[in-house]
Amino acid sequence: MKNTNFVTFGLILAVFNVGAEFTFDKYPEHFIFGVGSAAYVTEGAWDIDGKGPSIWDEFSIKSGWTESSDGGQIAANGYHYVQEDVQRLKHLGVSHYKLSLSWPRLLPHGTNSSINEAGFQYYDYVFDELLANGIKPFVALYHWDLPQTLQDDGGWLSSDSITWFKDYANLCFERYGDRVKLWTTIEDPFSIAYKGYVTGEHAPGFQHSGNEYKVGHQLLLAHAEVYQLYQSKFRGHQGGEVGLTISSDWYVASTEDEDDIDAARRAFTFRVGWFLEPLYRGDYPRVMKQRIAHKRKTLGYRHQKLPKFTSEDKAKLIGATDFIGISHFKTKLVTGQVNTSPSPDFYNDQDLVLSVDPSWPKLEYRPELNHESDRRLTGFGLEELLKYVTSSYDNPVIYVTQNGLDTCGTLKDQHRIEYIRDYTNSVLQGKLISTSLYN
Ligand SMILES: *[C@@H]1O[C@H](CO)[C@@H](O)[C@H](O)[C@H]1NC(C)=O
Repeated sequence: MKNTNFVTFGLILAVFNVGAEFTFDKYPEHFIFGVGSAAYVTEGAWDIDGKGPSIWDEFSIKSGWTESSDGGQIAANGYHYVQEDVQRLKHLGVSHYKLSLSWPRLLPHGTNSSINEAGFQYYDYVFDELLANGIKPFVALYHWDLPQTLQDDGGWLSSDSITWFKDYANLCFERYGDRVKLWTTIEDPFSIAYKGYVTGEHAPGFQHSGNEYKVGHQLLLAHAEVYQLYQSKFRGHQGGEVGLTISSDWYVASTEDEDDIDAARRAFTFRVGWFLEPLYRGDYPRVMKQRIAHKRKTLGYRHQKLPKFTSEDKAKLIGATDFIGISHFKTKLVTGQVNTSPSPDFYNDQDLVLSVDPSWPKLEYRPELNHESDRRLTGFGLEELLKYVTSSYDNPVIYVTQNGLDTCGTLKDQHRIEYIRDYTNSVLQGKLISTSLYN
């Protein structure tokens, strides 16, 4: 697959609690280590046993986006190799496995009007197999494969999406909550909103600036609704945790200029604050609201503001996460620069330019197999991002839910080993406790 971020490779799960001891070569207490995947890139079996089509099934066929034309139709064929894969996980020695549920495998038409029992039985089997082998499932309800029928009815732009997601989540909690104690609602809302609805590089492949903020708004409300559902109906007897996963680069100001430092701050506000401020403070960051309204008005798009939360929304949002999931891959240099592009866009709104520092070590890819050239070995970015989120959001429990490099089509992949080692060490050697937490 060409698409990097969808594929979750070596993945680290970490829980940080104040007081935990960090020493290299020994995991601190409360630290959990695992690997993960997503349904679309793992299961295959895209039209087997009653599964309905997802937006990624449609998109990969239509766009030819995936490298081989089969896309996720076969993927890693995980649907047929549950036992074998679980044995591999056991052999790896991980305590947790993160996976996502395929919504259209469970509800082929998206809504709870028709339930695919074969789909429910498949995950019963997966969870039982994992637990029998001492591996705990960590489950994402939504990792981007929306049922196509719901897309046809407006997808995440529809105000009905909140109800669709809530009804789906309700069934998942009912059926699996006895065995699944760690849930993420929505994986990486930024990519869903921006890459799916603005650049069109992800399913459903829409290209329409301005939609990112509307989609993001629906995703936040859908998350909060499902969090509150778990809280009121399931937590008492199931006792699990529910959180949101965001994605962010680590942003470094390119110089010590006030302009560049401000720009780096803005980059975090737009990427991290967009989703976390509503959960911690009940509203979008002030800087984001003002800039978007101003920039869009100047460009003649006066109605493209950030949507507003009602007071009822705010009450549902505040505190609606038990942990923060973080998906992280890259570090970027940030330079403040007024953007004069006439088209409204998430990045244009920020007035900055992103780049990489040429002194950061390059990852040795085989260029004939992988054209992506801006990946660098910047493991420090993960530690810094964790510190940033820890100090900005009241020392939350954090799980790093995605990190890694895409395959270059061969097992001779020293650069992937280096990447995973660098990023893992960054977390384990990190001075997370001594610096940000106790200051
Ligand atoms: C389907 O969702 C509705 C609410 O939208 C709920 O009343 C009903 O009980 C759900 N059915 C099932 C089977 O979960």
